Amino acid sequence: MQDVSARRETMLGFQPPAIGDEEIAAVAETLRSGWLTTGPRAAELERRMAEYLEAEHVLALASGTAALHLALVALGVGPGDEVITTPITWPATANVVVHTGATPIFVDVRDDDLNIDPARVAEAVTERTKAILPVDLAGQPCDLDPILALGVPVVEDAAHAAESRYRGRKVGSIADATCFSLYATKNIAAGEGGLIATNDAEVADAVRDLRLMRRGDGSRYDIPVPGYKANLSDVLASIALVQLDKVERHAEIRAQQFALYDDAVAELDGVKPLARDARDAHALHLYVVRIDPERAGATRDEYQRALADENIATSIHFLPVHLLTYYRERFPDQETLPVGERAGAEVLSLPLSPAHSDDDIGDAIAALQRVHARFTG
Ligand SMILES: Cc1ncc(COP(=O)(O)O)c(C=O)c1O
Repeated sequence: MQDVSARRETMLGFQPPAIGDEEIAAVAETLRSGWLTTGPRAAELERRMAEYLEAEHVLALASGTAALHLALVALGVGPGDEVITTPITWPATANVVVHTGATPIFVDVRDDDLNIDPARVAEAVTERTKAILPVDLAGQPCDLDPILALGVPVVEDAAHAAESRYRGRKVGSIADATCFSLYATKNIAAGEGGLIATNDAEVADAVRDLRLMRRGDGSRYDIPVPGYKANLSDVLASIALVQLDKVERHAEIRAQQFALYDDAVAELDGVKPLARDARDAHALHLYVVRIDPERAGATRDEYQRALADENIATSIHFLPVHLLTYYRERFPDQETLPVGERAGAEVLSLPLSPAHSDDDIGDAIAALQRVHARFTG
């Protein structure tokens, strides 16, 4: 029997990758094949992901950040333009807007799922708005229909949403361009990597030119645009292909972990998970709770420290981007965003990974229960 009254002896990782012998074998085989850089495995990943995402074109890239950046460049976003985005995201989402020379316009999120609020997006659209860049936080699709109805190109940051469906439609098949990440913690992980899914052949062609200097006929080459070095290596693509084979099995494990957390936090006053919309398929990428300090007896930061003392690693998704140093200094006139700012102080992500056992999640829950009892006792 597991002793749930005691602190874990070793640190429980927040989101360790679930890498098995199959991924190791695939890497060895790729290395033996002689393809270190982009080659047949990257092409196969694009084909299989296009099928999986129900999208006409998928382009493999070096990172989710590169995917977002090149999607914006492909849509012609540049100096003088505005791109509307959310403050509750990884800074990469806003950084790529800055890299194009455009200005990120942060608008506030909804209180229940912390995704961008479509009503506030509508209010923020101006004649300079060149794109809208919403995020599917934790795996919950953003509310795409009212955002798309505004008639402005939408680049969806689906770094957390490889398995998501919005009202029955696969995320990846809906927005003008949808960007995924293959970063080490993601549901389909290659270590590093990214994908753009689009049904727009012009966007796909532009990204092909931008991600790598276009090859000519062997003896000659030419460049239509000064491209970026943002292609995905076959070594990494071979890992992602195996992870794609396992995507459903891994999702089932995380679903079980979500269920364990849901049952446990329902009993903890002041600890509440983010809302998940039953009309959508959630990718179950992050289990985020909000810690209400009034009711939970302590702040999120105090909970995070107390859990670390219990050998439970947690994370924060996310600190509001507009409050980070660069954005505060560069855009000092940014309005306050009360919903996002409050959430940024309350969110805490609990350990979640197909590499964890139910006992591991049991340890995290037992630690959270002990910490909660201490703070509220
Ligand atoms: C919401 C979000 N957008 C973009 C990214 C960037 O992806 P990558 O790390 O693959 O560049 C991440 C994290 O990795 C993310 O969480």
